[in-house]
Amino acid sequence: MAKLISPLINSEFAKDVVQGLTTNPKYLRSKYFYDYKGDQLFQQIMNLPEYYLTDSELEILENNKEKLLKIMDSGEDFNLIDLGAGDAFKTRILLKHYVNQSIKFTYVPVDISQNAIQRVTEELQHLIPDLKIEGISKEYLPALDSIPNGARKIILFLGASIGNFSPQETILFLKRINQTMHKEDLLTIGFDLKKDPDIILNAYNDKSGVTKEFNLNLLNRINTELGANFNLNSFEHSPRYDIEKGEARSALISKKNQMVEIPTLKISVSLKKGEPIHTEISRKFSLQDIKGLAEVSGYEIVENLMDSKNYFTDSIWKKAD
Ligand code: AVI
Repeated sequence: MAKLISPLINSEFAKDVVQGLTTNPKYLRSKYFYDYKGDQLFQQIMNLPEYYLTDSELEILENNKEKLLKIMDSGEDFNLIDLGAGDAFKTRILLKHYVNQSIKFTYVPVDISQNAIQRVTEELQHLIPDLKIEGISKEYLPALDSIPNGARKIILFLGASIGNFSPQETILFLKRINQTMHKEDLLTIGFDLKKDPDIILNAYNDKSGVTKEFNLNLLNRINTELGANFNLNSFEHSPRYDIEKGEARSALISKKNQMVEIPTLKISVSLKKGEPIHTEISRKFSLQDIKGLAEVSGYEIVENLMDSKNYFTDSIWKKAD
């Protein structure tokens, strides 16, 4: 009789898990945080008092919605493309304002998950009935490639997710977006700024332990989807902030010498006491870093919108001449 093999065993997730856990130092890619439970935990993180990023960006959008409208709206129809829209909690500030002003635009939320697109579309249709929505469930770059030329593209990449890319990935990603843009298009990116290291570290080490659960959920996901036997109690959540590099780094530290089995992937993972599994980098930027990034990837900065504490910026870029 043919043996039943779960399709997940051959997935990109499975391949990345094998790659990350059989190398030294061990790592897991942070994009895998976001299963159903991970999405819920991230929503909770965004509401934590320590996670200042959310309030800072909400303040920027609320205080600058009229200014943004003037920059984005040239009187012609435009596509407002929201990369990683999630539940569009922050973008809603702009959407409500624009619809109230009868601006001609289409909201294009982009998310890899078809469910997320369906949910956000239904919710927004209920909340802002006059909003025109055309969601796309694809990876960001294929989504941008699939949007027909014609209407101006106003691309949003809010929420500091750019900080979760490595320096090389960041430039590659920005250059690829640049290739999909025309002279009149705009890209707005959320950057978390360098600041007091304690404020940054606390954002990744909240007192209520939600970020710890978020980090450990990655092991949980490997257990449920790939049949591993990680014991979550045998790992410690360990965030660090490297001031020189401007990087908040999270890792799960093995509390003891242990062996974890993932029979479906035919691997045994040996961990020493104190050994880390790196899970995430959240890079922080100076305005100078942002200017440098824009220049090397073919953009000019139109404006940096800041919150009152100068913790965060939504940086608006256009293609360089
Ligand atoms: C999604 N991303 C911008 C978050 C961050 O701040 O790097 C993910 C996160 N990880 C722990 N807390 C929040």
